Amino acid sequence: MSTSHHHHPHHPPYLITTLLFLFLHFSCLHANELELLLSFKASIQDPLRHLSSWSNSSTTKDVCLWHGVVCNNFSRVVSLDLSGKNISGQILNSKTFRLPFLRTINLSNNNLSGPIPQDIFTTLSPSIRYLNLSNNNFTGLVPRGSLPNLYTLDLSNNMLTGEIYNDIGLFSNLRVLDLGGNVLTGHVPAYLGNLSRLEFLTMASNQLTGGIPAELGKMKSLKWIYLGYNNLSGAIPYQIGGLSSLNHLDLVYNNLSGPIPSSLGDLKKLEYMFLYQNKLSGQIPLPIFSLKNLISLDFSDNSLTGEIPELVAQMDSLEILHLFSNNLTGSIPQGVTSLPRLKVLQLWSNKFYGGIPANLGKHSNLTVLDLSTNNLTGKLPETLCDSGHLTKLILFSNSLDSLIPPGLGTCERLERVRLQNNGFSGELPQGFTKLQLVNFLDLSNNNLQGNISTWDMPQLEMLNLSRNNFSGELPNLSRSKRLKKLDLSRNKISGTVPLGVMTFPQLMDMDLSENKITGVIPSDLSSCKNLVNLDLSHNNLTGEIPSSFSEFQVLSDLDLSCNSLSGEIPKNLGNIESLVQVNISHNHLHGSLPSTGAFLAINATAVAGNSDLCSVNTASGLSPCKIVRKRNTKSWWFVVTSTFVAFLAVLVFGFFITLVVQRKHNVLEVKKAEQEDGTKWEVQYFDSRFMKSLTVKTILSSLKDQNVLEDKNGMQYVVKEIKKYDSLPEMSEMKKVSEHKNILKLVATCRSEKVAYLIQENVQGERLSQILNGLSWERRRKIMISIAKALRFLHCRCAVVAGNLSPENIVIDVKYEPRLCLGLQGQLCMDAAAYMAPETREHKEMTSKSDIYGFGILLLHLLTGKNFSGDEDIESKVNGSLVNWAKYSYLNCNTDTWIDSSIDTSVHHRDIVNVMNLALNCTAIDPQERPCTKNVLQALESISSSSSSCTRYFSKILLLA
Ligand SMILES: *[C@@H]1O[C@H](CO)[C@@H](O)[C@H](O)[C@H]1NC(C)=O
Ligand SMILES: *[C@@H]1O[C@H](CO)[C@@H](O)[C@H](O)[C@H]1NC(C)=O
Ligand SMILES: *[C@@H]1O[C@H](CO)[C@@H](O)[C@H](O)[C@H]1NC(C)=O
Ligand SMILES: *[C@@H]1O[C@H](CO)[C@@H](O)[C@H](O)[C@H]1NC(C)=O
Repeated sequence: MSTSHHHHPHHPPYLITTLLFLFLHFSCLHANELELLLSFKASIQDPLRHLSSWSNSSTTKDVCLWHGVVCNNFSRVVSLDLSGKNISGQILNSKTFRLPFLRTINLSNNNLSGPIPQDIFTTLSPSIRYLNLSNNNFTGLVPRGSLPNLYTLDLSNNMLTGEIYNDIGLFSNLRVLDLGGNVLTGHVPAYLGNLSRLEFLTMASNQLTGGIPAELGKMKSLKWIYLGYNNLSGAIPYQIGGLSSLNHLDLVYNNLSGPIPSSLGDLKKLEYMFLYQNKLSGQIPLPIFSLKNLISLDFSDNSLTGEIPELVAQMDSLEILHLFSNNLTGSIPQGVTSLPRLKVLQLWSNKFYGGIPANLGKHSNLTVLDLSTNNLTGKLPETLCDSGHLTKLILFSNSLDSLIPPGLGTCERLERVRLQNNGFSGELPQGFTKLQLVNFLDLSNNNLQGNISTWDMPQLEMLNLSRNNFSGELPNLSRSKRLKKLDLSRNKISGTVPLGVMTFPQLMDMDLSENKITGVIPSDLSSCKNLVNLDLSHNNLTGEIPSSFSEFQVLSDLDLSCNSLSGEIPKNLGNIESLVQVNISHNHLHGSLPSTGAFLAINATAVAGNSDLCSVNTASGLSPCKIVRKRNTKSWWFVVTSTFVAFLAVLVFGFFITLVVQRKHNVLEVKKAEQEDGTKWEVQYFDSRFMKSLTVKTILSSLKDQNVLEDKNGMQYVVKEIKKYDSLPEMSEMKKVSEHKNILKLVATCRSEKVAYLIQENVQGERLSQILNGLSWERRRKIMISIAKALRFLHCRCAVVAGNLSPENIVIDVKYEPRLCLGLQGQLCMDAAAYMAPETREHKEMTSKSDIYGFGILLLHLLTGKNFSGDEDIESKVNGSLVNWAKYSYLNCNTDTWIDSSIDTSVHHRDIVNVMNLALNCTAIDPQERPCTKNVLQALESISSSSSSCTRYFSKILLLA
């Protein structure tokens, strides 16, 4: 109107006609406003009747009183706001909103669906300033066309599909554009660059691809850029550094690569810079560390390298610094300690080394500190909790040492403390065990010591103190009713398990193994109704297994081995349906095994070493139980007398047997001889059967004949020189070792003062390395399990490390039974190169965990058929690269390319993936992250035996990792 007024000032008659026309026209339209709005009401559902005031009988003036409608002084509708009214249905016709004075449409937060009318941008009144259709269920394409006066266009959080057209560049007045949270595809249009007034740009959470257009650099008014959660690739254009008003930059969760442009250091107004979860590489440009207004910087989960400069001290406003999961190195700069507002510092999973800067926490309200999985050394700063704000202290898997500083004992707000896998020593600081808010505490695998019997952490859910030197009685956790996991294993805890204290309704895992706990197992332990794993093994527990244990409802794994438990096994223990694994070996239990549940399939090792157990199940290796017949009423004295006589007989017989067994077990048969040259020889036999056939003479003469010896019965032996004579394990141990059917039998040793030989059974068969390529999956699986059994026998029964796993050292005999030729630290099976764990390459001692690594490689070998063992220099390089290569292939879900072609991948796919999974766990670089031998065997046995238990074992194994 004002336009016509100015254009035609000198033509009053014309003006009057025009005004008259306009008046008629608008009053007509005015009447139309009512109809248009009613037609909108008619097209939607309004279950909560918010639009009940929108009545058919209303007059034109009433419209302005309708709910959600706002008029101007001339009773013309200028705003329609029906946000969050639970209305649904479709907008069938864009003309519904053709109200001439309408400036605002807000239909956000409803259940509107169907397509947005494609002509909406051309049919709406050009006066419209604000259009918000966000948080509905609109489908279809983003409409085409433009509204030159629109300030705000918000179509976010719908189901819009298709591409964003270049037309978007025509909204020349747009300040806010939000298309986030849809299913848009295609590129970010370069025409966007024309929106020179745009301040807020969001296209986050779509499926956009391609690069970020450099044209964004032309949008000089931009304050916020949100393009995260797409599939954008390529480099970050340096032109973004020219957006001098920028406050937020968020490009997270894309595939952006290349370096971070140094120009981003020019964004002096920037407060939030989020580039995490991309593939950015190179160093972080120095100028970024001088952005004084930056509050939060998050570059985590990229491949950034280089160091954090001391310059960081200039970032006066910085509250959050997240650089975790990169390849950053160097030491953590002292500069971070002077940042006055620093609250959150997370630098975990990098390659930082050196100490944690002294005074960290002194000058700011430090709240979260996570520097775990680096290579940090030295002691913890005393100042970490100076402000009293610290809630999370996460420093696990470094090489930190010394005392845990006293200041942490009064750090009242601490909730989560993870200091495991370091070298902390000494006692816990005063007050530390009584921090009221701590819910997660892991101090495992340090050198901590001291009495821990006083404890008061009511919020505690997880407590792991294992692998330290803690002593004294068990901590009193009676106030920690939320406890879910308790691991106190491998300490020096003594005393008894108190009655009435260990009741934790939510506890799922309890491990008290390898301590010095005495006394009986309290029967109320069964009040821990959610217990899945209970390990009390390797203590000095006495008394009976409580019959209340049958009340466990979800118990899956029960280990009571290596204690002094006596009495019979409660029959009803076999009724726990969830029970999968039981180990009661090496106690003084007697009577018959329950013949139900987990006891039905129990194997020999889990019951071995008890005085007088019998079983109906032959696999258990126990003697069969006598079937007890019910007696009729015989005279009482007869029963007593015969029992007494039988008892005496058993006693005498038992005594005799014990003598024989002891003799057999502990005394090695010895034969001595002197040769003509005066050398004195001594032969020790592990098995007296060989005494006759193997004399010093035959042994020595075999040395001329390729070290192979054959006795009269045609049995063959190999004779090997023992190099490191001193370091041989106890002879009685070696004897025990060769009892396992998957380990090549040791027969005898023969030694003089100067030299020693070991005589070992020579098995007919082939080395695994020779026949590997043709083996079926089933055969491979059996080999895996048998070798795992051999390892468990060695580690758990004999405390011996094999040390030389490789397909060269495994002989498959004529019955297809694999036999491990035992290295005993590499001495006996010298001819083959073995898989070396990374830590043993650094000349550390071999452990059961290094065997697990070797076993992991063996699994990979069996899966892939990749045989490297012919090479001389396999050790260091190939093992590592085989693991990396397998990880890579596995992560890319590409089983067909890496599995040995003689395995039918279509049939065994699931098993293969599971074994792969296990192998990768076993080959973790950090020995502590590898599963223990027992679990490795469990996992393998569950693969393809029954699918239900399979998943459970795996989740367990993965948890261990
Ligand atoms: C959104 O629409 C889709 C299909 O058009 C439908 O499956 C879904 O249930 C709707 N969601 C809501 C919250 O109405
Ligand atoms: C770190 O660098 C190593 C090689 O130096 C590479 O293998 C690894 O993938 C890198 N890690 C990240 C997170 O980029
Ligand atoms: C630190 O916390 C205290 C109170 O807990 C507060 O008064 C102070 O302003 C905080 N300092 C900063 C820099 O946030
Ligand atoms: C850790 O640091 C030590 C010495 O500071 C160094 O020898 C070792 O190689 C480092 N380890 C890693 C994994 O960077």
